[in-house]
Amino acid sequence: MIEQATIERILDASEIVEVVSDFVNLKRRGVNYLGNCPFHNEKTPSFTVSPAKGIFKCFGCGKGGNAVNFIMEHESLSYPEALKWLARKYHIEIVEKEESEEERQQKDDRESMMIVSGFAQKYFSRFLWEEPEGRTVGLGYFRERGFREDIVKKFELGFCPDGKSTFTDAAQREGYRMEFLEKTGLTIKRDDWVRDRFSGRVMFPIHNLAGRVIAFGGRILKHDPNAAKYLNSPESEIYHKSRVLYGIFQAKREIMRADKCFLVEGYTDVLSLHQAGIENVVASSGTALTPDQIRLIRRFTPNVTILYDGDEAGIKASLRGIDLVLEEGLNVKVLLLPGGEDPDSFARKHNATELLHYIAENETDFIQFKTRLLLKTTENDPVARAKLITDVLRSVSVIPDTIMRSVYIRECSKLLNVDESILYNEVRKILRHRSGKAGFQLPPDQPAKAKPQVAPPTPQPAGLDTEEQELLRILLKYCKSPLFEQESETPGQTEIISVGYFILAQLINDDLVSDKPEFKTIIEEMADRLEEDDFQPDRYFFHHPDARISRLAIDLLAEKWVESKRWSKAGSYTEKEEDILEWLVPKIVNEYKLRKVKYLLADIEKQIAGLTGEDDFEKVIDAQSKYMNLKKVEKFLADRLGNRTMIS
Ligand code: CTP
Ligand code: MN
Repeated sequence: MIEQATIERILDASEIVEVVSDFVNLKRRGVNYLGNCPFHNEKTPSFTVSPAKGIFKCFGCGKGGNAVNFIMEHESLSYPEALKWLARKYHIEIVEKEESEEERQQKDDRESMMIVSGFAQKYFSRFLWEEPEGRTVGLGYFRERGFREDIVKKFELGFCPDGKSTFTDAAQREGYRMEFLEKTGLTIKRDDWVRDRFSGRVMFPIHNLAGRVIAFGGRILKHDPNAAKYLNSPESEIYHKSRVLYGIFQAKREIMRADKCFLVEGYTDVLSLHQAGIENVVASSGTALTPDQIRLIRRFTPNVTILYDGDEAGIKASLRGIDLVLEEGLNVKVLLLPGGEDPDSFARKHNATELLHYIAENETDFIQFKTRLLLKTTENDPVARAKLITDVLRSVSVIPDTIMRSVYIRECSKLLNVDESILYNEVRKILRHRSGKAGFQLPPDQPAKAKPQVAPPTPQPAGLDTEEQELLRILLKYCKSPLFEQESETPGQTEIISVGYFILAQLINDDLVSDKPEFKTIIEEMADRLEEDDFQPDRYFFHHPDARISRLAIDLLAEKWVESKRWSKAGSYTEKEEDILEWLVPKIVNEYKLRKVKYLLADIEKQIAGLTGEDDFEKVIDAQSKYMNLKKVEKFLADRLGNRTMIS
């Protein structure tokens, strides 16, 4: 258990923009920041961060919360784990209350697996730098390949001793459990033997976005045609190969700054480019690119340049990658390196300036790349040429954005010397053919005009009526604002009644607090704290330990960000809410009450309908009298709402 004072320090230190920026490329939009939502797949940014409020909110998928919620959601952590994560980021020492054996046990598997992976990385690195075997064999290998020491350190490379179970034994001596050594794949265990998976290999730790080690790649040093050159950690609860890009942690900042990402195949390609001064680079690690990996890049930039070997395998791999990347709505360029070179060998021969110059000169957009490549093989062959056109158009047709699609069609038309309208027709045919698949729209006959911007539907906070939401919203937002003056108990003096006081008094006196749990909690905790001078309702509820409460508070206050923007833009709504509280607050309270009364009436009706027994006579009378009273209240409220008079 983390002490409350520590929690407060962590919350105070956690700057939402800073925390989110570790994972999402945010752009300033007025007082807020905007980016692509990491929690759902989107192409138009609707993920908003408010530094002033300390919260994020996605208007696309509805997710919202404070810095802790963000880390919980993004890193799949529990509340205390997320706090610890933030504490680490802000160098805050955690003061923990005595942890029981039971609590220790509960630390979940994922965390234990990351901890043992972190230990392994440190062990392998220490071995590389400090042990004679590590220095001669491991460090010797990296030196021989020309990797500088700062690069070896930056990527936390290491060496796994060449023994049967040297590493595993050391880990166990340090108290790491076999269960997690096995689950991370660091150790291979059978009934009667145990051995290190990576023995005798140089180690490339694979980091997640947050910089924690989740897996390893190990390269063999001897020449052995029977053993794999690279051995990778198996899939596990913390490592899903298809969702990870090697080097993303070390590259993300530079990707954002340069607004571009280079995509290469291998570990050593990433290292060499960094060494040459190009740091916005990630590797797909030899496997075919996956949609998850592309989405990971898209969080930081829409611009990708694929940098593959110039040989046939490299070309094929690039071609395979292109359509997938296009499909995700990214701008793709391709750069083929001179025959026989991979990015690693090529970067070694050139410095950063030369490299960037070469890239700028030679990277081509995918249409040119594909067209030129295919043109070469189809000269003077009309049938092959027709096939080529279809092939290129197939790539065009996966582009989700109609504008981009029409730009490419125009380019294609020039390159292939075919009329644009013919190409449109072809693309339409391909799309129609594929229309069983979701997500594709037929392109218009003419080059597309701007897409209409349809606001995504804002999800309703679960379970609450509009009236309940409005009441909570106005309460959270204007709790401390003065509403009106009234005579105080001391004769001759007046006192200011705040919005919060007024609303709570109205609800609690009339026993009209909704019994929906979130609503009730907010009202009750608000009533307890209203008198405290330093009580800030938005801050308090945004950071509420009950995630349902903090989410609700954020949802309620976040929705108006959009609305107020719309109002001011249209210029049609000029009254500011805070200027009309005097009539707005009573109106909202009355609307809430009216809704509540209608519920009660419906309840009583049901009750009466159920009272059919002979002995129920008195109960029926009782219920009917309640019913009549409520009817009066209903009329009273409806009248007031009808002519919008004030209560006071
Ligand atoms: N790879 C792998 N398993 C293999 C071979 C390759 O996982 N048996 C992955 C590695 O991530 C490797 C990438 O595919 O980095 C590219 O493979 P390759 O080009 O063969 O390796 P290089 O990166 O060039 O490595 P090196 O320069 O050390 O030979
Ligand atoms: Mn290589």
